[in-house]
Amino acid sequence: MKRIAVLPGDGIGPEIVAQAVSVLRALERHGLALEIAEAPVGGTAYDAAGDPLPQRTLDLAKAADAILFGSVGGPQYDALPRPKRPEQALLRLRKELGLFANLRPAIVYPELVNASTMRPECVSGLDILILRELTGDIYFGEPRGIRPAEGGGREGFDTMRYTEAEIARIARVGFLAARKRSRRLCSVDKANVLETSQLWREVVTAIGAEFPDVELSHMYVDNAAMQLLRNPKQFDVIVTGNMFGDILSDEASMLTGSIGMLPSASLDERGKGLYEPIHGSAPDIAGRNLANPLATILSAAMMLRYSLDSEGAAGRIEAAVRKVLARGLRTADLYEAGTQRVGTREMGEAVVAALD
Ligand code: IPM
Ligand code: MG
Repeated sequence: MKRIAVLPGDGIGPEIVAQAVSVLRALERHGLALEIAEAPVGGTAYDAAGDPLPQRTLDLAKAADAILFGSVGGPQYDALPRPKRPEQALLRLRKELGLFANLRPAIVYPELVNASTMRPECVSGLDILILRELTGDIYFGEPRGIRPAEGGGREGFDTMRYTEAEIARIARVGFLAARKRSRRLCSVDKANVLETSQLWREVVTAIGAEFPDVELSHMYVDNAAMQLLRNPKQFDVIVTGNMFGDILSDEASMLTGSIGMLPSASLDERGKGLYEPIHGSAPDIAGRNLANPLATILSAAMMLRYSLDSEGAAGRIEAAVRKVLARGLRTADLYEAGTQRVGTREMGEAVVAALD
């Protein structure tokens, strides 16, 4: 019996997570044994308990074998002091659970090649993996704050920092991932300007010596952002820091047609993970049965693969998703003439039906 903590969160989180949970429940009927427990997180938890990450939620996440996460955030929380903001729940979960390796695959399904704003020949067959370090960098560096500035007024400041050990740890995950794919790893940094990046490049290069069979290249982040649009297929595995990875993975999602398609896995050193779509809580469409549940459903597939040792079940979900796309079902984000527009629920039900 595997224990799964389900944290739906805010905005569209509850509707998309509900669909991913029904897909998991359907697999249970085929012999998968799961114990699923739900807890509030983000703004929803703040509203109920005054804390975006209540102790009970953190305890549940810590005790679980894997966590399925929806999304957090909403404009009504923007004015709260930082520790109370919904995003803090996610950042604290990542940090407290040591989820340092964030895998963000960007795959262009043949059925969706026309949904991308990019020319089809540019993106067809695209299959890249962005590996983002998730517990360091300017996201967590101290000191940070807003203070009186010398010449008057105030100044805001943050600290970008990485230790050698943190860089080496994520670099190894990158080389190992590349080894399972096309044996090419591109490390993205800003070593022409930042000390942190200079150390990053040194350490990644040194770890590269342990992986002579993987071809390592380095790219500055501004160039990488441009190359992702110019010729995305030149990449296979990209390894980068927390902030550059945040930005590049959103960019890469649009190569695939919709940010509503991209799942992610955030893993600790032992393979325990938190699984979530890379998109946000989309408050503007929340509760209207409009959101695309596929990124969350595909995140559940990644959960089965990486944390629950159920490659077979993961493959079945992914095949079912391809089947419904091939049948022409599309949520609003992907709709085009000639396809069949469906809601969040109908898309989830179609995936369940396609599992058999
Ligand atoms: C992501 C999100 C988060 C991040 C936010 C919600 C804190 O953008 O997972 O990419 O910046 O990491
Ligand atoms: Mg982001």
